[in-house]
Amino acid sequence: MKPATIALATLVVASATASAVDYASQIAPIFRAKCYECHHTSKKVKGDVDLADNKMPESIGAGKHIVPNEPKKSTMLIYCALPDDDEDVMPPKGKNRLTPAELKMLETWITEGASLTAGGAAPTAAAPAAAGGAQKWTSADGKIIEATFVRLDGDNVVLTVTATGTTHAVPLSRLSPESQAQAKAAK
Ligand code: HEC
Repeated sequence: MKPATIALATLVVASATASAVDYASQIAPIFRAKCYECHHTSKKVKGDVDLADNKMPESIGAGKHIVPNEPKKSTMLIYCALPDDDEDVMPPKGKNRLTPAELKMLETWITEGASLTAGGAAPTAAAPAAAGGAQKWTSADGKIIEATFVRLDGDNVVLTVTATGTTHAVPLSRLSPESQAQAKAAK
């Protein structure tokens, strides 16, 4: 099946605000690398915890796994910080643990309010690497998304959007000249 062609603008992640940790570029890539295999709609949903972007709101709020501004009450962070041999540690059995830097990032994001849309820090070089080949793409009208190149398909470039994990064909004409060149160089 051909991926649906959609306007790049609809993929754009909300633009910068005062917050320092950005969910889409800094937190979601950690979950993708270390949790999605057991906690994502498209794979498995263990423990009733689905970390897919559209399901994240179900994990955030008072009494849920992520309590905004309250890292010490956020079981998501607590489980990730347990010792390797604790039976509740996430990911289980001490495999593929979050690094201290990733734990700190998660803690800071929660302390800042655990927003799924607000973000401020210019994504660091580390973020695209963690996302596995994701790059920045700029639309003809200057909006930026982070996505992984899949292939060129005629006049479209097929991209997997980091924030949503979804794959779309984007007409080359909707991209900036730089991103068009990036797409052509990527094949
Ligand atoms: C290999 C599979 C696997 C991976 C990877 C994994 N989990 Fe889990 N997770 C589980 C299972 C199984 C449960 C259910 C455990 C239970 O209910 O005893 C669970 C439960 C949870 C719960 C709910 C616990 C509760 O008591 O309600 C949270 C929160 C959670 N995981 C977070 C994460 C996070 C965050 C990551 C990534 C850093 C992660 N998990 C990675 C398998 C996994």
